[in-house]
Amino acid sequence: MRTLHDIPELRARLAEWRGAGLHIALVPTMGNLHEGHVALVEAALARADRVVTTVFVNPLQFGPGEDLDAYPRTLAQDRARLAAAGNHLLFAPSEAAMYPRGRDGHTVVEVPGLSAELCGASRPGHFRGVSTVVAKLFNLVQPDLAVFGQKDYQQLMLIRRMAADLDMAIEILGLPTVREADGLAMSSRNGYLTAAERARAPALYHSLQRLAAAVAAGSEPATAEQDALQALLEAGFEPDYVSVRRREDLARPEAPDRALVVLAAACLGRARLIDNLEFERRGVTRASRQP
Ligand code: PAF
Repeated sequence: MRTLHDIPELRARLAEWRGAGLHIALVPTMGNLHEGHVALVEAALARADRVVTTVFVNPLQFGPGEDLDAYPRTLAQDRARLAAAGNHLLFAPSEAAMYPRGRDGHTVVEVPGLSAELCGASRPGHFRGVSTVVAKLFNLVQPDLAVFGQKDYQQLMLIRRMAADLDMAIEILGLPTVREADGLAMSSRNGYLTAAERARAPALYHSLQRLAAAVAAGSEPATAEQDALQALLEAGFEPDYVSVRRREDLARPEAPDRALVVLAAACLGRARLIDNLEFERRGVTRASRQP
């Protein structure tokens, strides 16, 4: 597996592959790779002739006071993990290569609406940073396929919207969240948890499971959200939001909407954890509407 840091070298290698008619998949990451990332690479390998994984801790998606400096940078381990998985090319650019005009002078890509909701409301500018860097990576690699995890549900939806709006002819594949045995979603930020926090962390997923079961069975989303927030507070989290949305567009669900997702973000010690769970709301039958 080759590791490249420079854009001209990357373009040269990709031109060879494209010239040979090979299908190329892209797996964008910020490194500190875990099994969830490896599952993305494996899915990409199963669908393309060549897989390019990128490792770049993108400063544009971190707000002031967030964990940009602390974010784990483990390139040697990431490289070994990717090579073992069969990944073909690792692209790990410097910040200067990606943003030669600096963080503030760069052209940005903004997806309206979606960027301001949920995580976007508490992390202003975060999704602008994500869509900007992903657009750059799409332009650099010009893959046939790009693979992302569903743990970042809102991010995945935003990237699909961006690709559609900007006519990027790239198939976007979203893969189910990979979890630890106790239900905690794998995340590079789980490493921030102390042993005591790690033991409590699965409460986030369990609160989503309980909420989904309650709403599926007919509870009002707003009531179930309040219960979940309370449960998280009691488990020692500082919840940011727990919100039931419809899957189609992440709008708040109307009565007839059935395909739903609950999304949550909560801090536990130094770690800001996010998770989500798709579920179906049971249909209200005609008979049950009658007095
Ligand atoms: O999900 C991530 O790791 C990042 O947000 C991404 C998509 C690699 C963009 O920096």
